Parts: sequence; structure tokens; C-alpha cells
Amino acid sequence: MALLAVVFLLALTSISDEAAPDCKDLVKPFMPEDPKLIFGKWVYVMGAGDPMPYHKALECLKSSWINLSRTSDTQIVNLRWGDHCFNRCIMGEVNATVSGIATTFRKNLSDHKGHILQSCSDCLLWTDTFRNEDVTGRYIMQFTRTGTIDPKDVEIFKKQAGCLNFPENVHSCDGETELCPDDKESTE
Ligand SMILES: *[C@@H]1O[C@H](CO)[C@@H](O)[C@H](O)[C@H]1NC(C)=O
Ligand SMILES: *[C@@H]1O[C@H](CO)[C@@H](O)[C@H](O)[C@H]1NC(C)=O
Ligand SMILES: *[C@@H]1O[C@H](CO)[C@@H](O)[C@H](O)[C@H]1NC(C)=O
Repeated sequence: MALLAVVFLLALTSISDEAAPDCKDLVKPFMPEDPKLIFGKWVYVMGAGDPMPYHKALECLKSSWINLSRTSDTQIVNLRWGDHCFNRCIMGEVNATVSGIATTFRKNLSDHKGHILQSCSDCLLWTDTFRNEDVTGRYIMQFTRTGTIDPKDVEIFKKQAGCLNFPENVHSCDGETELCPDDKESTE
């Protein structure tokens, strides 16, 4: 009888493992040691927002890049972006403060605080929460070096977004709209 109970329990555990990939492992925040894994240009491929108006807001992004670069202060990272939205390019720049695994910056009057999550190689996965007075929301954004992503990595991203309870219908860039030009990109 006892043996039967053990076997049954084991069977149950493996079924639930199957059904729910371990969210704890999938959304573990981390800060890469190797600067090559952070700095430079990244192209946005997919994302989600919460609550709904912020999720919808991502739809305007036809293409988007960010460029992270070092400053003389090791705790400050310069973040520049180029968003192709409503048929124009919206460029911006902020200095973000890194403290442990958390990164904070102020963009468009909102205070963002977020961190990097484990992701595919040549990928950068970012999630943050933001507050603008009494309004709060959050985002998750998947970037890659090239702007393309392997279908199996799309599935992993969707699981990660699901673990964090983001809307399931993630937004994807069309991959056809050209990236906004960057006049600070050096041509060496
Ligand atoms: C970021 O910091 C650098 C160096 O301290 C400064 O030159 C630059 O103007 C800052 N940029 C913004 C957007 O605050
Ligand atoms: C900036 O914030 C204002 C007020 O919160 C909002 O109406 C506007 O859409 C935001 N602009 C961008 C580009 O996010
Ligand atoms: C990223 O930005 C830095 C300075 O802000 C620039 O020197 C570099 O060329 C940019 N990299 C790319 C690939 O655009």
C-alpha cells in the first residue's frame, strides 16, 4: 500500500513538472558579469505590458532599438533608444543607475525599476515596473542583437512572460520596418 502511494506521488510530481515549467528558474533576475552581454546595440523583437493600455501601447512600435553604453561611472549606464512609432522616429536618452541586479531610470516622467532575466544567447530580456505619480505599470521586452529570434526562444519568452502574468498575446515587431537611424552610431 505504502509503495503504491509513493509511486502515485512520484507520478503526480512528474506530471505537474511537465505542465508548469519551473517559473522560479525561468524568471530569475541576473546581472551578466561579461559586459559584452549587456553593452552595445539591441533590437526589440517582442514584448508585453500590463495593465492593458501599456500592452496596447507596444503596438505602435514598428521597430525599436536600444544602445547601452558605459560611462566613466561604473554604476551609470547610458541608455539611448530609437522607436519607430506612429510613422516617425522617437529618439531618447537617459542615464540609468545600476545597483546590484536592479537598474533604475526616469523616462518621460516615469520612474522605472527593473532587471535583466536569463534569456537565449545574443538576447537581452528586460522587465521593469514604472510609476508616474499614482499610475503604475510594467513591461517585459525581449531584445536580440540581430532583431531575429529562433522560434524555440519565442516559446521560452512566452513562458517567461506567462510566469510573470503578462498578457498572453505578446506583441511582436513586424521585422520589416527599418530601424530608426542613429546619428551617434560610430562607423568603425
Ligand atoms: C549622462 O551622463 C553623462 C556623463 O555624466 C552626461 O554627459 C550626459 O549628458 C548624461 N545624459 C543624460 C541624458 O542625462
Ligand atoms: C509620456 O507621458 C505622458 C503622461 O503620462 C503620456 O500622456 C504620453 O503618452 C507619454 N509619452 C510617451 C512617448 O510615452
Ligand atoms: C552605441 O552607442 C555608442 C555611443 O553612445 C556608439 O559609440 C556606438 O557606435 C553605438 N553602437 C551601435 C552598434 O550603434
